Amino acid sequence: MIVDSVLTNAKAYLKGQITDCCIAIEEGKIQKIGKETNMPQADEKTDLHNLLVLPGLIDEHVHLRDEGRAYKEDFASGTAAAAAGGFTTVLDMPNNEPVTMSVQSLRNRMQLAQRRLLVNVGFYSEFPKTFPEIKEVVSGGAVGFKLFMGNQTGGVNVDDDSALKEALKEVAGQKVPVAVHAEDRTMLAANEAKLKKAQKTAPADYLRAHTEEVELKAVQRVLKLIEGTDVQLHFCHISTKGALEAIAGAKKASKAVTCEVTPNHLMLSSDDLQRYGSLVIMAPPLRDRLQVEALWRGLEDGAVDTLGSDHAPHTLEEKMASSVWDVKAGIPGLEVTLPLILTMVRKRRLTLNQVVSLLAEKPAEIYGLTDRGRLEAGKAADLTIIDYNCQFKIEAAKFKTKAKFSPYNGWEVNGKVAKTIVNGTVVYEDGEIIAKGSVGGIVRGGTR
Ligand code: DOR
Ligand code: ZN
Ligand code: ZN
Repeated sequence: MIVDSVLTNAKAYLKGQITDCCIAIEEGKIQKIGKETNMPQADEKTDLHNLLVLPGLIDEHVHLRDEGRAYKEDFASGTAAAAAGGFTTVLDMPNNEPVTMSVQSLRNRMQLAQRRLLVNVGFYSEFPKTFPEIKEVVSGGAVGFKLFMGNQTGGVNVDDDSALKEALKEVAGQKVPVAVHAEDRTMLAANEAKLKKAQKTAPADYLRAHTEEVELKAVQRVLKLIEGTDVQLHFCHISTKGALEAIAGAKKASKAVTCEVTPNHLMLSSDDLQRYGSLVIMAPPLRDRLQVEALWRGLEDGAVDTLGSDHAPHTLEEKMASSVWDVKAGIPGLEVTLPLILTMVRKRRLTLNQVVSLLAEKPAEIYGLTDRGRLEAGKAADLTIIDYNCQFKIEAAKFKTKAKFSPYNGWEVNGKVAKTIVNGTVVYEDGEIIAKGSVGGIVRGGTR
C-alpha cells in the first residue's frame, strides 16, 4: 500500500508519553503510528526533526462572528487564526447577527462556512423559541446548546426558572451538552443601573457590576434547575473560587457537570486593569489574585476540565469607547492560548499531559468528537506540531485574526506552532497559511 504521506522523526504524545515515532496518513486519517521500518511507502515524506506532535487541539469556545459581524471576524480569518494558534477544531458560539437559535440559522451558518474553513468547525445553538426545535437543532448538527444567562440572547426567557428547567430537561435526551455563561442577569442589571446612575464609567466600575456573586448566583441557580434531570452541563470561563467549589460539589453528587477556564483568567488579574484599561474588559471580568490562584489550584486538582480561549474579536475602536458600558467585552485568544500555556508548562505550573487533556482529550469527550482528541490509528489526521524550545515574542500586529491587538503583545513565550495539520493537510507552516481552499470540515454533535 502507498499512503498519502509519512511524517518521520516525530516526538509524539501517545497514551500519556512522548514517543519517538513516525505517523502515516491516508485519506485524512492516521493510518499507522510506529517505527520507521514499519511505515508503508508514501507519496510524500516529511522529516519533523524531533518536533513535538500533539493531537490536534480543540478550542471549544470561539466566537467566529461572520454574517452581520464579519467586520470583526469571518470564517476565513477566524479559522486562519485557529490554525496559526495550533487548533485543528474550534466550536463556534451562537451570539451572532443573526443569533444561531434555529435549524434555519444553523443551516445558513454552515452553508456560508463550508467553503472557507481552514480548520474543523462545530456550531453551538442558543436555545430556540419552541421546545420541538431543540431536537431539530441537534439533528441539524449542533454540537451543543449555549445558555447565555447574562442577558437575553436566545429563545428561552433566562429570568423564568420553569421555562429554563423545561428547556434543560428537553436537552437531556439529546446527547449534546449545554454550555453555560454563568452571570445572573437580574443581579448584573441592578448593579449596572446603580453604577450608571452614579455616573461611574471607568473600567474598574465594570468589575463592580460583574461581581463574584453574579457568577456564583447563576451557577447555583442552574445547578438547582438540573436536579432530577441528567442533562450534561459545561460551565464556560469560570472565574471564581466560589463557582469552582459549587461545581466541584455537583460533581461529587455525580451530576454530569464540567467546567472551563480561559487563559485570560489565569494569566491576568484585576491588577492588570491599571495597565491595559478597557482593552482587558471581558465577561466575566478579570478577578483579584486570590481568585486567580484558586483557578490554578483547580487546574492542579482536576476541578477544571478544559481550557477555552473565548476568542472574542472586536475592533480596536469598540474596545476603546470612553464609557466602559459602551466597551465590547472580550479579546482575541486563538493565537496566544497555546504559547501562554506552554510557557506555564516550562514554569512547571502544569504538565504537558494536563495540556493535552485540557485542550484535546476532554473537549473531544464532552462534545462527543469521537474521531478526534487523540493520536491513534483510525482517528482524523489532525496534528498540532510544536517547536517546544523556540522562544519568541507575541506580536499582535501579525495575528491572522482581524483583531490585531492583545494585552499579551510583546510577552516573551516559549512553544511555537511549527505546523498545523487538519484532516491530513498542512494548513499552517512557519508563520504562514499554506492550504488552498477549504480543508476543515463541519463537525456534528449528538454522537456521544
Ligand atoms: O467577553 C465576552 N465576549 N464575553 C461574552 O460572554 C461574549 C463575548 C463576545 O461575544 O464578545
Ligand atoms: Zn461567555
Ligand atoms: Zn464567549
